[in-house]
Amino acid sequence: MPESRCLQGIWSSPWIFIFAAAGSAIGLGNIWKFPYMLGANGGGAFLLIYCLCLVVVGLPMLMAEVALGRTVRSNPVDTVNDLAERHVVPKYWVAVPYLAGVTGLLILTFYSVIAGWAFAYSRRAVTGALENLDKVQSEALFQDFLQAPVEMIFWHTLFMVMVVLVVGQAVTRGLSSVVKLLLPALIFLLLLLAGYALVVGASSEAISFLLRFDWDQVTFEVALSAIGHALFSLGVGLGAMFSYGAYMSKRMSIAKACTIVVGLDLLVSILSALIIFPLTFAFGIDVDSGPSLPFVTLPIIFDLLPAGQVIGLVFFALLALAALTSAIALMELFVSWLHERFYVGRLKASFIIGLVIWFCGIAIVLSFSHWDAKIAFGLNLFELVDNVTSLIMLPVAAIALSVLVAWVVPEPMLKNEMIAKNPSHFRWWYTTLKYVSIPAAVLITVAGWIGV
Ligand code: PFF
Repeated sequence: MPESRCLQGIWSSPWIFIFAAAGSAIGLGNIWKFPYMLGANGGGAFLLIYCLCLVVVGLPMLMAEVALGRTVRSNPVDTVNDLAERHVVPKYWVAVPYLAGVTGLLILTFYSVIAGWAFAYSRRAVTGALENLDKVQSEALFQDFLQAPVEMIFWHTLFMVMVVLVVGQAVTRGLSSVVKLLLPALIFLLLLLAGYALVVGASSEAISFLLRFDWDQVTFEVALSAIGHALFSLGVGLGAMFSYGAYMSKRMSIAKACTIVVGLDLLVSILSALIIFPLTFAFGIDVDSGPSLPFVTLPIIFDLLPAGQVIGLVFFALLALAALTSAIALMELFVSWLHERFYVGRLKASFIIGLVIWFCGIAIVLSFSHWDAKIAFGLNLFELVDNVTSLIMLPVAAIALSVLVAWVVPEPMLKNEMIAKNPSHFRWWYTTLKYVSIPAAVLITVAGWIGV
């Protein structure tokens, strides 16, 4: 398909694609979720399996999504529809982008709520509420916050309004310039905090926790959590990278761009772990304390730093911004589809989808306080949505999209894509995707489900 058929235009330089894709990848998954998953899954073993999943499964699958997006240059549903209409793939494959869409919507319902936490903590840094906190006070502050649904709904609403306005105004492509500033600032701040945490915290305990490889921890359930999180963190399986690939110039090497994105994503996750764990061990915070872990730990380090409240404010604001760029990438999927397919105005489309997500997000907020009933499998609504999306829906959608690219779409179609600068590297990627990434993902997912 010629570049001119792309409705939204083409990224003007390779780096813009990289910044935009990194903006989608780097978010709450790295700074909030990764550390507490490491804590809950035993540290080193999870870290190693996670890195393997990222490289062996996540990277080839990310490349597959970008390549297919660039081949057809449209949103995921229309991409597969287009291929079906041209009899390149059977019609039933259209179900896959719909599954991806529902998964993305469900993720956004809790993503927006947690992003609201980052806003709320920015405000707390301004008002001085994060000053002089010890472990017990920090935990109490967070518990009180969870019991305040009105405040949480306020920040969740603010976050959704921002997402709706940005996506509705079609300024999403200008986002890469925001990410261009945000990303170095975030990495700089994380480096600073990690350095400080390693100096003032229990660094040797933290490092040995992160490097300790305990075979008992290596189970298919842990591997499934790692794979689910790798896909979540890269934003693979939802079709978000489809759209970004759709805006990518044909002259650009997909392998190189995606490798940089995966590298940046991993860097931010590791830095976050290097901040959280030295403090967790130094202050006797339970590594297994779940979603509260980063929000309880971080205020303690800000308190130890000179001008810590200012740094705290900047940090939580950057975290909220990183969450915003990720949520925008997800939301863009639905809005561009409604806009291109049904000619709904962008703002209207964005508003409708934002309203649905906002409404469901309220139920998520309440699941932390007034409505923490265990709905199924001993999980409350937030835990259920989080687990079902990352352990079931995301792996299934990512595997299905990869099977579509590797086994159904004719090879010559993809061969025309510049997978790597060196054309012989196409074979590497294609063979890895077909015979390593997909089988590994299927094995881990199925074995993880049945609890082998
Ligand atoms: N990758 C984001 C994170 O780690 O926070 C979450 C996300 C963004 C998932 C965009 C999917 C996506 F399309």
